[in-house]
Amino acid sequence: MDSVSFAYRDGESVLDGIHLKLEPGEKIALVGMSGSGKSTIAKLIARLYDVNRGAVYIDGIDVQNVKLGSLRTKVCYLLQDAVIFNRTMKENLLLGNPSATTTELQRAVEIADLQEFVRRLPQGLETPVGPRGNALSGGERQRLALARAVLQNPSILLLDESTSALDAPSEQRVFMNLAQHFPRQTIVFVSHRISALKWVDRIIVLNRGVIEEQGTHDQLIRNGGLYAHLHTAPSALSAAQLPSQVSGNN
Ligand SMILES: Nc1ncnc2c1ncn2[C@@H]1O[C@H](COP(=O)(O)OP(=O)(O)OP(=O)(O)O)[C@@H](O)[C@H]1O
Ligand SMILES: [Mg+2]
Repeated sequence: MDSVSFAYRDGESVLDGIHLKLEPGEKIALVGMSGSGKSTIAKLIARLYDVNRGAVYIDGIDVQNVKLGSLRTKVCYLLQDAVIFNRTMKENLLLGNPSATTTELQRAVEIADLQEFVRRLPQGLETPVGPRGNALSGGERQRLALARAVLQNPSILLLDESTSALDAPSEQRVFMNLAQHFPRQTIVFVSHRISALKWVDRIIVLNRGVIEEQGTHDQLIRNGGLYAHLHTAPSALSAAQLPSQVSGNN
């Protein structure tokens, strides 16, 4: 992202002059309080919106010059709300890659930490999941969407709180699985459970649409800035940015 500025509505800047270079294979985390612009960055990379100023490049090519169909196969953006269809588990998975083999399906299911659940189902992957996947729990729906993304094998995977319904140990396991199985892919993790993200190559800390600081977990803790504050007192996330007279009243 080169000097990227963006507003959803005229005059209400959401991102301001963002410079961000992600390397192939890099695993990064976007951290910051609600409304700081994490999802907006992910949406601009996936070109769900076009920037107002600056540009987003993938391998040196402005995303505005890439055919959307081609961009969508290479960049996968997963949200908290998994899109699941009224079909079987397997049919939902195959949308990621219609020609996936049984071994590939199995591997994707394991990476998404879904294997125990599938094993308990009498019909296994042939089990129908109901309208919008309502026969599954929220966490199971999210895992299914993640396994489908694994099968799609994108070059850039944007995970925007897409594992929010998993318990913490499972979320951590899934993150590590992804990092291990996708060494050459760029993965952007967004999670409010920042303790699950300590291990990434680089943490980008956003504050009101600008990059406040970035580095590894250890570097940021040593900096003693916003990240260190969020890490020691996640519940102070919103108070950290309020004027002192307001936060003092809380
Ligand atoms: N579609 C939209 N239309 C108008 N404003 C929007 C839209 N989406 C987001 N915003 C605003 O843009 C700002 C940044 O939102 P964004 O979704 O990027 O934040 P976030 O860091 O992902 O927050 P959260 O942690 O709550 O998901 C917020 O002030 C939000 O209200
Ligand atoms: Mg968000």
